[in-house]
Amino acid sequence: MGTIEGVTVPPLTHEMKVMVRRNYWDFYREHAGEPYPEHLVRGAAKALDNLQRVLEDEGVTVTRPDPVDYAQTEFRTPHFESTGFFNADIRDVVLAVGDELIEAPMALPPRYFEHVKYHSLLQRYFERGARWTAAPKCSMGQHMYDYDYPDEHLAFFRGDPNVPDDVGPLAGHYMTNEAEPCFDAADFVRFGRDIVVQRSQVTNELGIKWLERHLGSEYRIHRARFRSSGPVHIDTTWVPLGEGRVLTCPARPCLSPDLLDMFKRAGWEIIEAPEGVAPAEFQLSSRWLSMNLLVLDEERVVVDQHEEPTIRMLKNLGMKPVLVDFKDHYVFGGGLHCATLDVRRRGELKSYFD
Ligand code: ARG
Repeated sequence: MGTIEGVTVPPLTHEMKVMVRRNYWDFYREHAGEPYPEHLVRGAAKALDNLQRVLEDEGVTVTRPDPVDYAQTEFRTPHFESTGFFNADIRDVVLAVGDELIEAPMALPPRYFEHVKYHSLLQRYFERGARWTAAPKCSMGQHMYDYDYPDEHLAFFRGDPNVPDDVGPLAGHYMTNEAEPCFDAADFVRFGRDIVVQRSQVTNELGIKWLERHLGSEYRIHRARFRSSGPVHIDTTWVPLGEGRVLTCPARPCLSPDLLDMFKRAGWEIIEAPEGVAPAEFQLSSRWLSMNLLVLDEERVVVDQHEEPTIRMLKNLGMKPVLVDFKDHYVFGGGLHCATLDVRRRGELKSYFD
């Protein structure tokens, strides 16, 4: 699980606009490199502590990195300079596949060094037998981004669900190009030996190929498209609820017939997530963090205690919702799944699809 203390406002470079909702752009311009308002940080830290307590009560072993004071962190490489690391979302930074922990290259400059925060944790897992890999870092130089990418194509952050088909990601046009491989770990979601991935604003085809080749024949990577105007991370779009059930986001229907077929042929149920109850969109995410659930096992699912419709859905499915007060973490863009990484689980590695 991540930590949030010391989090710093990242500078709003052009490529960062894929993460920050438009009505906050001025805030990011004015406060780059400064700490976020203290009450927001305190609220999110408390939400994370709530989650840790709830998980431990359910018998889960929770380990967390030491807090880092991002405010002291200005950095430059030969290709860019930036300030701060990013947030508590370890899911974005590290991918766990079997006994391997893979550091993602990331795609946005303020996140370049974010893996450093998890270094000592990863080393401890390594000492206990995990394989530990870092995907090649990309340079994050300006040639990796489309500096002519029109702000209007960042429709998601206009809060506009009616995206035209002929611009932006729906037309195959992203902020990141194919100059170098890049990916965030959270654009991949695991179903046993099958991994579903989306090309997104921060994950490109070369990055997907890198992982595909690296994992080799033991795993199959399935590329999927969703009707999303600004995809960043798949875990509010296509979320496994356990064997035989996957949650789909009604605002981002799947556009890949092959993927739908594969799930249907295997007898999986594709369930539409109910809308979240949050009154507004957040600075760094949509309201769909309501479906960013942490599944503990076939029965138990951790869900925010305010998300009544989601809680009802889980009960109707015969699952046991484990409630936690987590909403104050949403400000920083991450839900329950984002802020956690399940490193060790019981059960066997299966193939669910033919
Ligand atoms: N971009 C997604 C949305 O706004 C949020 C995904 C968050 N996931 C994560 N792993 N940080 O709905």
